[in-house]
Amino acid sequence: MKKLLVLSALLATVACAQVSKPIEMPYVDYPMAKGDHDEVAQQYCLICHSWGYILNQGTKSRPYWTGTVQKMVNEFKAPIGKEDQQTIINYLVKHYGYESTAQH
Ligand code: HEC
Repeated sequence: MKKLLVLSALLATVACAQVSKPIEMPYVDYPMAKGDHDEVAQQYCLICHSWGYILNQGTKSRPYWTGTVQKMVNEFKAPIGKEDQQTIINYLVKHYGYESTAQH
């Protein structure tokens, strides 16, 4: 009986370890540009991944950054209010993008 308890405890540990395995994203350290409310982007965009991971995408158009921020909110449930989303998009376009209607 004692053996059975130990065995089931072991199995539970293994099962939990599998469920709680974190999603791995590369950690890329990179300084953020200052100004234009960089603190808002800092507050929200670093919750789940590093800044360098975001900037790995390169310089992008306004539709790209708008779509990306919306994707973070809609698909990954980033808790960012509408006004702050706009602030972050403006910050990203100004420092890491360009004005264009193209999707890239
Ligand atoms: C709730 C967690 C979460 C928050 C907060 C978050 N992201 Fe993400 N982000 C993710 C996940 C998960 C991925 C990986 C998605 C994939 O591999 O498709 C990702 C990937 C990305 C990528 C890579 C390209 C892509 O589309 O997959 C960019 C760029 C990005 N995030 C930008 C941002 C920006 C900008 C913010 C702040 C507005 C932000 N993220 C906030 C979860 C988050």
